[in-house]
Amino acid sequence: MKNVLLLTLLLGHTISKAQLSQASRDSISRISVMDHQQMKQQLGITVANRPGPSGNPEAPNAANRDESKVNKYVLPDPLILKNGVAVKSPKDWWEKRRPEIVEDFDREVYGRLPKNVPAVTWRLVSVKDTTLGNYPIKEKTLTGIVDNTSFPGIKVEIELVLVTPINTRGPVPVVMEFGFIRWPFGNITPVQTNRLISAAEPGWKEQLIARGWGYAILNPTSIQADNGAGLRQGIIGLVNKGEPRRPDDWGALRAWAWGASRAVDYFETDADVDEKRLAIEGLSRYGKAAVLAMAYEPRFSLAFVGSSGAGGTKILRRVFGEQVENLAGTGEYHWFCGNFIKYASTLTPDDLPVDAHELVALCAPRPVFISSGSPQVEGQWVDAKGMFLGAVHAGPVYKLLGGNDLATTEFPIIGTPLVSGDIAFRQHAGGHSTGPNWSTWISWACRYWGDCKYF
Ligand code: GCU
Repeated sequence: MKNVLLLTLLLGHTISKAQLSQASRDSISRISVMDHQQMKQQLGITVANRPGPSGNPEAPNAANRDESKVNKYVLPDPLILKNGVAVKSPKDWWEKRRPEIVEDFDREVYGRLPKNVPAVTWRLVSVKDTTLGNYPIKEKTLTGIVDNTSFPGIKVEIELVLVTPINTRGPVPVVMEFGFIRWPFGNITPVQTNRLISAAEPGWKEQLIARGWGYAILNPTSIQADNGAGLRQGIIGLVNKGEPRRPDDWGALRAWAWGASRAVDYFETDADVDEKRLAIEGLSRYGKAAVLAMAYEPRFSLAFVGSSGAGGTKILRRVFGEQVENLAGTGEYHWFCGNFIKYASTLTPDDLPVDAHELVALCAPRPVFISSGSPQVEGQWVDAKGMFLGAVHAGPVYKLLGGNDLATTEFPIIGTPLVSGDIAFRQHAGGHSTGPNWSTWISWACRYWGDCKYF
């Protein structure tokens, strides 16, 4: 199949799309185009954006999939300060270089977390004892109610599901996924989405529960809509009192990562959860959100970043698969701050002050597992090698902080688990999913969390 990725994406979005009429979809894209345009006006950009390449390999303007045609580029060195001085100690990293990198990502790529984000109060909506496979589980549904007294016209209620095994000896580690599930509006419950990974392997939720670990699902779109039309609503709209964003205001990815931190606040209050053993996981756009959440939230001890591609762990300067021009177009710009549009219009990706390896480096020394599917099934849009290189070039920061890098710079053959270090990488043989990498991830996670069977 040529374009399995696109197909998977369409299917992945069926639940939310099905709820929208063609007219609402048209109006979402119309409003997104207008918002994109007003942001360009704020930025004083009068030239058209450069169009991104196509994800369809058959199209005349198909994205590059040929390694021999990859451009030459120079990456910013994560261990050289802006004044040219080399970073030699962990202290220099934490006090000087890391804040510089954070500032660049905040201003130019993902946007700043506002100073005045209102508080969230978690409400337990329901608790249910049930089973997953043969395992007894406790399923809690929660709503994080955002204080909207500053602008009552916008209501934000964050949807979270937490599932823990019953009969464990104490609080359990929890892996939180940024989930595609429209809960509680759709009729798919988190438990029902525990699909089989393959005929021979149980689903990821069952694999975790079997080990005595828990999982949680956070619904990103309950925090911030996944389109430009929603930028004057959701948590971004609430903070801006319904007004448009300014060029360095946060985008949806930063907002989703903020929501993940609020879920961690809740976990710290729940006696079933071991808040020292929390991981964040996500796929595709939610893989981008997962690495961002890991970078900005030190209370996550591990991450599982699935097929995050461009805007995630893939090197943005690398001309292969999805490009900055795609990300900065009207369909995806809302993931980022307004300033990011510059790099697909008046500037180029080579002008970015940072690149994806530095996002991975912001997670250091906490362990990050970078996952992708196979080119044959997933397609090349996500650029597995570009994500691998994001991991490789974060290595020196891990080493400086006493951690271990990937231990190789050579792109491995498919299926090889590069798991000896605190940055790990594996390209599984399946499609656009974290599914086939769960068992590898879990055994890697056991190194940090203990090979804990908590029963
Ligand atoms: C598109 C987009 C990717 C994104 C993916 C998804 O393919 O170009 O950047 O990761 O959608 O999230 O489904």
